Amino acid sequence: MVDFTLTDEQKALRELAHDFAEKEIRPVAWEYDKDGTWPQDIIDKAWEVGLMNVHAPEEYGGPGLSYLDGCLIEEELAWGCSGIATSIGANGLAAAPVHLGGSEEVKKEYFTDLIENKALASFCLTEPDAGSDVSGMRTRAVRKGDKYVLNGSKCFITNGTYANWYTVYAKTDPDAGHRGISAFLVRRDDTVTVDKKEDKLGQRASNTATITFNDTEVDAKYLLGEENKGFKLAMMTLDRTRPGVAAMATGIARAAFEFATEYSKERVQFGVPIAMHQAIQFMIADMATKVHLARLATWNSAVLLDQGRRNTLESSHAKRFAADAAMEITTDAVQIYGGYGFIKEYPVEKLMRDAKIMQIYEGTSQIQRLVIARETLLPRRIEEQATATA
Ligand code: CAA
Repeated sequence: MVDFTLTDEQKALRELAHDFAEKEIRPVAWEYDKDGTWPQDIIDKAWEVGLMNVHAPEEYGGPGLSYLDGCLIEEELAWGCSGIATSIGANGLAAAPVHLGGSEEVKKEYFTDLIENKALASFCLTEPDAGSDVSGMRTRAVRKGDKYVLNGSKCFITNGTYANWYTVYAKTDPDAGHRGISAFLVRRDDTVTVDKKEDKLGQRASNTATITFNDTEVDAKYLLGEENKGFKLAMMTLDRTRPGVAAMATGIARAAFEFATEYSKERVQFGVPIAMHQAIQFMIADMATKVHLARLATWNSAVLLDQGRRNTLESSHAKRFAADAAMEITTDAVQIYGGYGFIKEYPVEKLMRDAKIMQIYEGTSQIQRLVIARETLLPRRIEEQATATA
């Protein structure tokens, strides 16, 4: 049976996230965007009301919420401001590989720090010369006794400036391509430097930095999963987190759709509200359909995970469709506002700027299409992968 009816608990969770977005995020979102203000005060409040680390397992003191629950929260927070939502949610991306590959001891230490001490964590995969092509990374990890020594730079790292922990991918066998990458959990110390905070087009309240590891020593117990199996860990992580990005894209799209709908009922041209013109009605109708389908694809990709099933294809469908929909809807919202849409005094230009990153981070829309094409054209290979990673 296919049934997307939310339980009472899920409705209450969505309401909690919506109230938080409405009262704590929306009122400051445009101001924080203007100045690129780091939203520590809002992160603190999100932590206090239980909207952070939502997938942290119950055995380590977390709420252990489902992937669908997480998507409900992310859509609402991003409806408030996707930059602030990204800052609140980034721990989840960094935590997924720890959850998948960390020992009990490491998970306890890590999740306890996130949950009890409000620690922040960043996911460090991308490098200046290795974005879509993950296996092109150059960061090295060399084993020395019971430690690994890390050297290299990671760029576009969300929350990088403020993180206490980094989930870092590095080459342990540089000649082995994707089969020579390992993942490590790294606690910040003096050998970790923040080289650059990016000044961005959108999501300006989120922090994006370059992080360099300079002879950073990591105890071997912080190796996540097996040595040289880090690439798969990264891919499995992205399968788990792309539904959340799709949910955020849906939240941005919904916000733009709501603003445009309200504006079209108020703005009078040719003697009637512009909502009376079919040209505008069709734009509104297309927006409504895209928000609806983005949410359905997102929930579908999350529910598969909650059922313990592989969701690589559905996760890419959701991320690709929702991100592209957010870009289209926010662009159309600016169009509906006309000249006012182009002006910062009105809300929709920020949403258009924020939507752009949805088509880029956690795998560009082109990479999602690549995954979709491979999964569609080579299903046998995919079945083999599913068996290998089950
Ligand atoms: N689950 C498990 N295993 C998987 C997998 C999955 N979803 N996808 C691939 N694999 C396995 C394959 O089975 C294969 O295994 P073998 O070694 O046994 O052969 C191996 O991984 C290599 O797979 P591919 O041949 O498909 O690898 P590829 O080099 O062609 O790359 C890719 C595939 C889809 C392009 C991948 O590199 C990719 O997703 N790139 C985008 C990276 C990305 O999303 N970066 C975002 C960074 S995070 C971020 O943006 C957040 C932030 O903070 C800003």
